[in-house]
Amino acid sequence: MDFKEKVVELILSKVDLPKEQVMGLIERPKNPKLGDYAFPCFVLAKSLHKNPVEIAAEVSEGLASPEFAKITAVGPYVNFAIDHQQLITDTLKTVLEKQQTYGEQQLGQGNVPIDMSSPNIAKPMSMGHLRSTVIGNSIAKIMKKVGYNPIKINYLGDYGTQFGKLIAAYKRWGSEEDVKKDPIMNLFHYYVRFHEEAEKDPALDDEGREWFKKLEDGDPEAVKLWQWFREVSLADFNRIYKELGVTFDSYNGEAFFNDKMQPVIDELKEKGLLHESRGAQVVDMGEGENPAIIVKSDGTSIYLTRDLAAAEWRMKEYGFVKMLYVVGGEQAQHFVELKTVLKKMGYDWADEIHHIPFGLITQGGKKLSTRKGNVVFLDQVLKDAVSLAKEQIQAKNPNLEDQDQVAHDVGVGAVIFHDLKNDRLDNFDFDLEEVVRFEGDTGPYVQYTNARAQSILRKAKAMGKEVGTARSLDDDWAFAVAKDLADFPDTIKKASEKFEPSIIAKYALNLAKKFNKYYANVKILTDDDQISERLALVEATSIVLTNALGLLGVNAPKEM
Ligand code: ARG
Repeated sequence: MDFKEKVVELILSKVDLPKEQVMGLIERPKNPKLGDYAFPCFVLAKSLHKNPVEIAAEVSEGLASPEFAKITAVGPYVNFAIDHQQLITDTLKTVLEKQQTYGEQQLGQGNVPIDMSSPNIAKPMSMGHLRSTVIGNSIAKIMKKVGYNPIKINYLGDYGTQFGKLIAAYKRWGSEEDVKKDPIMNLFHYYVRFHEEAEKDPALDDEGREWFKKLEDGDPEAVKLWQWFREVSLADFNRIYKELGVTFDSYNGEAFFNDKMQPVIDELKEKGLLHESRGAQVVDMGEGENPAIIVKSDGTSIYLTRDLAAAEWRMKEYGFVKMLYVVGGEQAQHFVELKTVLKKMGYDWADEIHHIPFGLITQGGKKLSTRKGNVVFLDQVLKDAVSLAKEQIQAKNPNLEDQDQVAHDVGVGAVIFHDLKNDRLDNFDFDLEEVVRFEGDTGPYVQYTNARAQSILRKAKAMGKEVGTARSLDDDWAFAVAKDLADFPDTIKKASEKFEPSIIAKYALNLAKKFNKYYANVKILTDDDQISERLALVEATSIVLTNALGLLGVNAPKEM
């Protein structure tokens, strides 16, 4: 329950102001005795030329709703007071009853393909691909929680002229043995070397072009090498996906659409959308916009053509209600073109296509790129994160069983959480030490809070204490926790509407902070007549923290 929304709704039943404005005016009274929310009447007084005190009295007149124990005018304010004890009891009951299903709701249904991760074969997965992977994975979980059927598609970059270059490079400097030993690293080195040497020796570029032509024409050697590169690269990627705990429903990448582009080009022609511009076949994008190229002047099709074919194919295959592309912000124009062309083809479903962009990860303020070799190798980042986590666990809890599993959950979880806690579109800097800290706004902090809750529950069990909600808690710290718990379903709703996992990550951090305040101020395991209710609060917190972390794709160890 979003109480603020409810306050706004009640106010709007009485006053004629835009919703956004009322939303912005709502305050939290400094003195909690006055209530939980207040609507100040000064703005209204000004426009109505009336006394704000009078207006407050008029607005509060007859206003009532079960969420609020009291709605009263106090001077120029309308105050809303929640029945704290009622809220605490109701919320804890609900969470304990629903357990991990708490927060599930039916906001929609149907297939939602999510185009995510989509790294390029024979190149290391970049931090950008990491972002796409973890953001896409989390959005899939969030969409599922609100009723949709997500379909995670890894649109592998497994085709294009670069494979001609790679084959040429491999033929010149490659060794089968090296590729087998460390596929991506070595293929990547050939590729980087190709670019370096091609700057001095333009003949190399011709060689690359020839090999690509052979590949297109189905030359057995070219095809075999290409398939092999794809296979070993995918095996490497799968190792990282396994570490991250991410799975896919489809790996239909760029190559899958090789034979599906011509029909799209024909369709565009038939619909009279294609015309020639400087030797290329293009579709007009409207006044003042550059046309979208569909077939280049040399007759080759491009990224956009392939994505058009993929979108049509997915519509036929999945009959989707929405389709999401989790791809960096630098490709925004591409997705505008994709949607515009589909729309012009008469496909209204183009309106249900959403580009979900995200910002860059920088290091020391600099952009990371794969082309120049200035790249962070993702498996190394994850390995380092796990060993940092392990150091801290060994210091804090040397006797912990399953140390390696916990270190894995914490280290990898830290990297994922760090990625998701920022608004999707923000750029952020990656500093591993920062990411794996147990204090501050980190994943390990949330996990540690959950482990603390679990440890309290274990101790209580050893004391023979039960969890219960027969009486109600009446302190402000408990109320603060319970109010957050009550907000969880609504938080998921917002995250699903904005395709924004950071809303869940921030929520988890806040809940963890409030719970730790509770822990610092209240003696939970004191054996008095409210101990079972305090334990209910502890258990409910753990359920929701675990649930929230789960929506981010982060595990919550019970002990750490
Ligand atoms: N492989 C591309 C890249 O690494 C991303 C593909 C995104 N998905 C798509 N349908 N265009 O930049």
